Amino acid sequence: MIDLTPPRSSLDAIEIASRDEIAALQLTRLKATLHHAYAHVPHYRRAFDAQGVHPDDCRTLADLANFPFTGKADLRDNYPFGLFAVPREQVARIHASSGTTGKPTVVGYTKQDVDMWADVMARSIRASGGRAGMVCHVAYGYGLFTGGLGAHYGAERLGCTVVPISGGMTERQVTLIADFKPDVIMVTPSYMLAVLDEFRKRGMDPRATSLKVGIFGAEPWTNAMRLEIEQAFDMHAVDIYGLSEVIGPGVACECVETKDGLHIWEDHFYPEIIDPDTGAVLADGELGELVFTSLTKEAMPVIRYRTRDLTRLLPGTARSMRRMEKVTGRSDDMMIVRGVNVFPTQIEEMLLEIETLSAHYQIVLTREGRMDEMEVRVEGRREADDSVGEAGRLLSLRIKETIGISARVSVLPPDGIERSQGKARRIVDLRTAKT
Ligand code: DLL
Repeated sequence: MIDLTPPRSSLDAIEIASRDEIAALQLTRLKATLHHAYAHVPHYRRAFDAQGVHPDDCRTLADLANFPFTGKADLRDNYPFGLFAVPREQVARIHASSGTTGKPTVVGYTKQDVDMWADVMARSIRASGGRAGMVCHVAYGYGLFTGGLGAHYGAERLGCTVVPISGGMTERQVTLIADFKPDVIMVTPSYMLAVLDEFRKRGMDPRATSLKVGIFGAEPWTNAMRLEIEQAFDMHAVDIYGLSEVIGPGVACECVETKDGLHIWEDHFYPEIIDPDTGAVLADGELGELVFTSLTKEAMPVIRYRTRDLTRLLPGTARSMRRMEKVTGRSDDMMIVRGVNVFPTQIEEMLLEIETLSAHYQIVLTREGRMDEMEVRVEGRREADDSVGEAGRLLSLRIKETIGISARVSVLPPDGIERSQGKARRIVDLRTAKT
């Protein structure tokens, strides 16, 4: 693999600034963000008041711990635009991701937010080894999902030639990789493995492609998978992290020269690690739930947003900004199936709308070949007849329409699903062994 370390002179000054400089900038921006949220978002004013805190109470970065958390439920309760801190006319872009129920989680960006996002994404691509003049193949999905457009704007900002192919149509992905000769590919790691299979199926040598680096995220993946992809394609594989509520991809990214965890772009996103049960802030190095406060967002500032992702904070290496370890799990029951976020509650809501199905269900995740497969096992309300088979087809269709993934639905007779003594076991994830 070739050395793609970016020249130090190409980095933003803040990436290699002293910790004191970074902290001073964070504090100024944090105070401004707390005031902005309090003044313009009724939800934050109510939440701060209820906790007895005011933006003026934030004198040090540690004081942030006294402010209330924000969670997905707050976004749902303020659906669709209730958390916007600017008039809707100033919102230049809307994105959305899965909520815990039928209503998606909506996020908004001003022109300046879109600009900042392009900057942090360009920084991420540069950290991964990308640079101006390279061809960048973007196979993250375009649309309400932040992956495609986030990667696209960042690659353009860096000065790349962007190929906005989006996800799917694996054969065409392979053809365009062979014909357009991209240097960089941005895609979920699981889909990259499907692309790899297609190369092999067509008898093409994946090591002979022009690809120099893949920037993979939107779902958890392991160092074992990194090794497999790097060896198969003879290219670097770098981890990128983000979530819609905070901005999208580009909250944190690994550096190609170290690949030792993801540097958080701390000048825009302030991280904390908390104990998911008590909410207490944990010291750097301890494993807990990642929480973010945006420092520069205009349209939708987020204060102490609970990501539910489990990781730990580590000191900087290739950059002064702190790193987060690869995400090791979640503190809630969200599943990521083929890069798409899915909550069991979404499925539950849909199946309960179908009269002949009961509330006893289980979701089984497997990996057949490279692709995640989802099966929903649900009990019918009575012994199987024609209407039960029809109910299964209907549920499968609704899942496809609302969540966007194909699921197999098996309707079992009453009592077909094991009853639990305590919490129902909704998810049976059999995928982990392979990665
Ligand atoms: O997945 C944004 C993104 C797009 C990130 C492309 C990277 C690349 P959401 O759809 O809102 O946004 O999902 C966010 O996905 O809370 C994590 O649970 C998971 N996730 C994202 N990146 C990683 C990663 C995008 N590198 C949720 N490793 C997050 C593990 C990840 N999990």
